[in-house]
Amino acid sequence: MDSIERILVIDDELAPRESIRMVLKDKYRVSTASGAFEGIDMMLQDPYDLIVMDIKMPKMDGITALQEIKKKHPDTEVILLTAYASLETARDAIRFGAFDYLIKPFDKDDVLLVVEKGLKKRRANTGLKLERDILLDRASYLEDQVIKARSNIMTCYEGTVNALILTIDAKDHYTHNHSNRVAKLSSSIAGALGIPAKTIKEIENAAAIHDIGKIGIEENILRKNGKLTLDEYTEIKKHPAIGARIVQSVPFLEDAIPVILHHHERYDGMGYPGGLKGEQIPLSARIVVVADAIDAMMSARPYRDALTMGKVESELRENTDKQFDPEIVDIILKGNVSCCRGGVFPPTNNHQ
Ligand SMILES: [Fe+2]
Repeated sequence: MDSIERILVIDDELAPRESIRMVLKDKYRVSTASGAFEGIDMMLQDPYDLIVMDIKMPKMDGITALQEIKKKHPDTEVILLTAYASLETARDAIRFGAFDYLIKPFDKDDVLLVVEKGLKKRRANTGLKLERDILLDRASYLEDQVIKARSNIMTCYEGTVNALILTIDAKDHYTHNHSNRVAKLSSSIAGALGIPAKTIKEIENAAAIHDIGKIGIEENILRKNGKLTLDEYTEIKKHPAIGARIVQSVPFLEDAIPVILHHHERYDGMGYPGGLKGEQIPLSARIVVVADAIDAMMSARPYRDALTMGKVESELRENTDKQFDPEIVDIILKGNVSCCRGGVFPPTNNHQ
């Protein structure tokens, strides 16, 4: 026997069943069944590679059996045996998944030829399936690797961002926790604006390091309690550009550049460093401008107390279209944004 491939011959008549078996037995492992039910049962126990089956059988005919077998074993090839009178039926059976048919009385060489062709197709399908399974395994492995790599990048990103925040906070003690609060508030505003989740996360991360450029500003200017001189103010206005230069060399922080560079632009074009106006200012930066201002107003300074929610609200109204994007102010005042200190705009009687 050359092959380990298994063939099942199903025919209720002994003579054709045995003659088919005799033709194939030297080349393949051949079993026989005397009816469709028995054949289906044998397939359930241990599926065969190919079935040679008579069409005309009592209890269940070959066409019905073909459909039953194909439901559970779509990869098994089926060759039908037909009398000349049933030729049309056999041809029709191709659409139910039969591979081919043999007309009785059949020639030995025809049987071997058609069976070998059927097995060749089966081998090709099995090979393709195996190849597909290997590719799917490979794809799944690569997907896992990408998820792990992404997670490592995120850990690295968060570590870097936290280190940068701590550096800013250490240098400018008024900003203590300011970066994190601006990040949370920016995220909340972005959510209220209906921005997609992935972009919201990018805005939140960028907002957390918006003041990173302060690393490059002298401490005596950053920590000065009194009014800044013109030169000092000119110096401090350099921090957006310094910040953008710092993160430029870190590929995974590149997305934060628009926020870092433009978080002191004003909607009326009177801000810095670019003097950009309205929608020329990236939306992410326009969001951070408002979040930054709200948190600054709600933080106490040596020269003033923290502003009440009511006062913050009136500042927002007063500066809409001037410093702030009116659409962002509008959405905050509609009460759709959680405030950085746990409150919700607009102020209620409980918020003083
Ligand atoms: Fe700033």
